[in-house]
Amino acid sequence: MRFNSKLPDVGTTIFTVMSRRALEEGALNIGQGFPDYPIDPRLARCLVDVIGEGRNQYAPMEGVTELREQISSKLHGSYGLRFDPQSEITVTCGGTEALYDAVQAVVGPGDEAIIFDPAYDAYEPAVRLAGARCVRIALAPPAFRFDWDQVRRALNERTRLIIINSPQNPSCTVADRNDLDALAALIRDRPITVLADEVYEHVLYDCRRHASVLAHPELREHSFAVFSFGKTLHATGWRIGYCVAPPALTRELRKVHQFNTFSIVSPLQYAVARYLRECPDAWTGLSAFFQAKRDLLTGLLRGSGFEPIPAAGTYFQLVDYGALSTDSDMDFADRLIREAKIATIPLSPFYAAPPAMTLLRLCIAKRDETLETAAARLRAFVR
Ligand SMILES: Cc1ncc(COP(=O)(O)O)c(C=O)c1O
Repeated sequence: MRFNSKLPDVGTTIFTVMSRRALEEGALNIGQGFPDYPIDPRLARCLVDVIGEGRNQYAPMEGVTELREQISSKLHGSYGLRFDPQSEITVTCGGTEALYDAVQAVVGPGDEAIIFDPAYDAYEPAVRLAGARCVRIALAPPAFRFDWDQVRRALNERTRLIIINSPQNPSCTVADRNDLDALAALIRDRPITVLADEVYEHVLYDCRRHASVLAHPELREHSFAVFSFGKTLHATGWRIGYCVAPPALTRELRKVHQFNTFSIVSPLQYAVARYLRECPDAWTGLSAFFQAKRDLLTGLLRGSGFEPIPAAGTYFQLVDYGALSTDSDMDFADRLIREAKIATIPLSPFYAAPPAMTLLRLCIAKRDETLETAAARLRAFVR
């Protein structure tokens, strides 16, 4: 067969690779980011009810009105600001589709998009499929701080997009208001849009508050903000996300969305809308819920040789195995699967040019028993 691959160097994602290896080796998978506990039974009940009520045909392209109205109320609850469900909110197939649509909407051949490594793996392929290229700026472990002077030096007349992710997967760090101010100053008077991946908006630790681009008066005018009910409602398989952006950006995003997925599974949208109406505070305890899990896991691992790196947000936890081995993270992760029967996610695949580091990502969105078993296996591996 003769054709030219558009992404010749893109293989299977590291999440799929490690999950597949976990299955092959019978390992406990605390690598990939999905909960192993049930969703709220009230949410499940809403889905059964709306299907019974016949909510089974095409949803409107931009998302069902009830859900967009609930999202608008939720945004008001979180950030104290009003967003118009008609012109500023679009329901998508998970955060992933929103990211893809936003990229296609604003970048094209010859353009450049800036992304920060370690970068979530969906960004670069979307940019390349739009015919553009990514300029990757590495954040150095273990602090992973932004260097905004470096970003300024990377800007040129081709720069059209800057993608930020806060709380950031996989570094578990968060951007603060100063970072957003620096970003706003950089794009001022330039034709650059911001794509803010905020799917972990509700998972920040130690009393930190999320700095959303939506709450930043200047950035809000130039940004797509992407969210995910997969993360917020512990239902990653439902694939319901949404994008919030000013009307002009939303119009362009919807042009892509309507020929990409057209519309999202209607009973799921109605179910989430009903659930948010009936349980409007369902998501407010997320930080406390995950902080307890973070503290449980880090408490069990401290002193084991798998040293936890302080996590500010996301439902992940990094550990440094540098005291145990000088193996590459890919090799060491594979050894853990075989010998400790634990699947983790190495960090180097999230970098274009990985720095020297010995870090693995663990997912804490797991039952306490799962985290205890994982910690016991890691400790037993060291002994
Ligand atoms: C940083 C980040 N962005 C986007 C996504 C995708 O979200 P969704 O599962 O809603 O497509 C994920 C999922 O893990 C993520 O970690």
